[in-house]
Formats: sequence, C-alpha cells, structure tokens
Amino acid sequence: MTPDEFREYGHKLIDWIADYRETIASRPVRATTAPGEIRASLPAEPPTEPEPFDAILADFEARLVPGLTHWQHPRFFGYFPANSALPSVLGDLLSSGLGVLGLNWQACPALTELEELACDWVRRMVGLSGAWSGVIHDTASTASLVALLCARERATNYALAGGGLQSQPKPLTVYVSTQSHSSVEKAALLAGFGRDNVRAIETDDRFAMRADALEEAVRADAAAGKVPCAAVATTGTTASTALDPVGAIADVAARHGLWLHVDAAMAGSAMILPECRWMWDGVERADSLVFNPHKWLGATFDCSLFYVRDPQHLVRVMSTSPSYLRTAADGQATNYRDWGIPLGRRLRALKLWCLIRSEGVSGLQARLRRDIANAKWLAEQVAAAPDWKIVAPVPLQTVCVLHEPPGLSGEALDVHTRAWAERVNASGAAYLTPAVLGGRWVVRASVGNLTTERADVEALWKVMRAHAGR
Ligand SMILES: Cc1ncc(COP(=O)(O)O)c(C=O)c1O
Repeated sequence: MTPDEFREYGHKLIDWIADYRETIASRPVRATTAPGEIRASLPAEPPTEPEPFDAILADFEARLVPGLTHWQHPRFFGYFPANSALPSVLGDLLSSGLGVLGLNWQACPALTELEELACDWVRRMVGLSGAWSGVIHDTASTASLVALLCARERATNYALAGGGLQSQPKPLTVYVSTQSHSSVEKAALLAGFGRDNVRAIETDDRFAMRADALEEAVRADAAAGKVPCAAVATTGTTASTALDPVGAIADVAARHGLWLHVDAAMAGSAMILPECRWMWDGVERADSLVFNPHKWLGATFDCSLFYVRDPQHLVRVMSTSPSYLRTAADGQATNYRDWGIPLGRRLRALKLWCLIRSEGVSGLQARLRRDIANAKWLAEQVAAAPDWKIVAPVPLQTVCVLHEPPGLSGEALDVHTRAWAERVNASGAAYLTPAVLGGRWVVRASVGNLTTERADVEALWKVMRAHAGR
C-alpha cells in the first residue's frame, strides 16, 4: 500500500468508524452470530494474490460486524466500561502509524518521555504523592504479575540471582481476598508461589477483605514456618466494586513486612474525583498499585498504569543489558524495558495524552460524576421496587441486583436470575453480566459507557423488569 492509497482507505476507514459510533445505538448490543459462524464464512486458506483493500473492508462489514458485541454501545452494561474515547482512538492510530518502538530511551526518546509525563499527569489527577513512579503495561494482569515477582524477590533478598525460589528453605505466602480478581491468583501462581501458599481471606458483609482475618492468617502462617510475603488489596472488586480497607491492610503489611499491592483496575479512574479518594485511604503506604485507564477513564485498550514507590525493585528484578541495547544515555534516562516483562513497547502514552488533553480533567470528572449519579438512580429504583433488591453497596457505578419473586430461593432463584439476564441479552436491547456474589447468582449492571445517559439507564430498568417477568 502506498502512502497515497493509505490516505484514501484511511479516510474511508475513519468515516466508517465515525458512522459506526454515530449509529451504534441502533444495533443490537450483543453479537447475533452463533459459535463458529464467522470463521466458517471466511476462507480457510490465506489469499495467494494481493487483494484490493475495498474487498477487505467489504468483508469486514458483511462478515465480521455481525459478530461484534458492541462494547461502545450506550446500553452496554456488561463486565465494565471499556471506554474507547475518540481522541484516544486517534492517539492509538497515530502510534500505529508512527510504528516506533522503545527498546531503550535512545530508540525513541519521545516515547519514553511522553510515557513518563502521562504517568505523572495521571498520578497528579488521582491525587497520589510525588513518591510514586509509573509505567504503562498492557493489562492489570501483567502489572499484578510484576508486583508479585518483585514481592517474591524482595522477600528472598533477590534470590533470582542465584538459586531462585527453588533455593528457599521455607514457602512464601500471598494473601488475596475471596473477591480478588482471578488475575491476582493467576499472577501468584505464575510467580511460582503455588496454590497451597495463596490465601483467600474472608470478606465482610460489604464484600471487603477483613483485615482481622488477614492478620490471623499471616500469624498462623508465620507460626507454621512459612514466610508471609505479599498482600493484594482491591479498590473496587470486579463483582461489586467492593472497597478493601487499604489502611488497615497496610497496618498488617507493615507489621509483618509484606509487600502491599493495590488492585484498583476498575475504580482507579474514580480517584480523579476528590470526593472518591477516601475509598483508597492508606494507598500511600502500599508498595505498588495498578489501575486501568482502559476501563472507565476512556483510554483505548490496552493501557494499564502501574505505579511503584521504588522503581529500583523493578530494575533489580527485570533489567537486561545486552550489548546492542547499551547507549551513552544509560544512567541518565529511563529504560522502561527494565520496568516490566517485554523488551519492545509501543508509544502507548499517546492515546492517554490525546484523551487527557482533548477532554481535560474537568471533562473526565464530569463524565464520571454523571455515571455515578446514573448508577445511584438505578439502585434507588431497584431498591424501591417490590421483589427486587440491591445485594451489595453501590459506591461507584456497578449495581448488583436480584429479582426475587415470592417462593423462589436457592438453586431455583439462580436459574431464574441467569434466565432473565439471558433474555435481556438475547433481546439486544441491553447487555448485562450475571456473576456469583456471596454464593448466589446476581446480575451486575455496570454503568459508565461514554454515551450512556440517564435515558439509557431508564431503558435498561424497563427491559430488566420486562424480562424478569414483572
Ligand atoms: C479489579 C480488577 N482487577 C484486574 C482486572 C483485570 O484487568 P486486565 O484485563 O487489565 O488484566 C479486572 C478486570 O475486570 C478487574 O476488575
């Protein structure tokens, strides 16, 4: 493709995306295809001869679009908002168009320095002190893995330089909660702790980790000859945005020398609102924290921010220095390859920079406040309706509900819950995700897409009642 052809098709593609976003509300939210249908409609063999880009675009529209679940739809209330704001889309496109890679500072100075700046801007936006340094990862899963790798190494006095975890005389233990995201347990397993050494601490009636139960578990492990190593607190759990008591957990961590990692993947965005910052009180005492601007904030996936108090832990665990990557700038500039797992990195900061500049902090704050108010409105309607109930506190934008018709309980209630959620989703009018909370299936409405207004939440409530049989 020549630059001139790129110009022609690029314009078409941008037009297509603009039209898509403009008309997205008229589409069914969930994909309308059956498993395997998309694949079967496409040739099994790759083309031998070049094909015109028009033909590719036509196939995209005819064959792939029906298989899209529309995450940017104003009535998408599933999982979490994965907002992909249009300025951020442009930033991402720009990064692809530039095609630069940051293997070290010199390989692309602007890449490193914009990443430093963007991490620092967001640090200021969420009210964290200047003691934190940030780096952009693909996902929170990666960031939590890095956190636990660093915790492991600090607890073993950097055993990776010798016999590694296998040389340790005593097993190291990690503490999460029963409500932690699955990526945290996965990170602990990948970091070599072993399932036997991962403790899922009980939560209270608000689904928040019980710091007293954490203290008890840590003491029991220490008494049994284990080495308590790390705790992970969640600010905004996946199922219900429950808020672990970060301060009380930090007390336990300090008493026992644990690495404290805070997973604020979803709720971190809310910390741009000063009135929400009490939710992670104590965060300054953590060793690391992650939050995903690629969720509610609006940065196009993937863009996960990982902050640490002391980047030297990262460097000691992950630095590499092959001859071809050494430059005269080493020691004077950040080499982000030493702060994470991959060597190569894209200019990911562009999409965050474009987002923050285009919307401004006040624009982002206004949108999040709108979403919190909309979720509160929905929670009030549910709480006031006969046979409906709110099953978890609603500190932010996730509303967990149960429709409990008289006479239904236990398994039968679970069947009913999943069935009405499926009817809503199959209708195409809205999209919700059911999940297990406190041993019961509930339905989560995660409010907060870019274009979700009060009228969309009202429409959701109507559809919920229609499909739950009331
Ligand atoms: C609390 C929490 N942690 C971690 C994750 C995982 O995020 P990622 O997909 O960026 O790995 C999620 C995603 O929903 C989450 O809600």
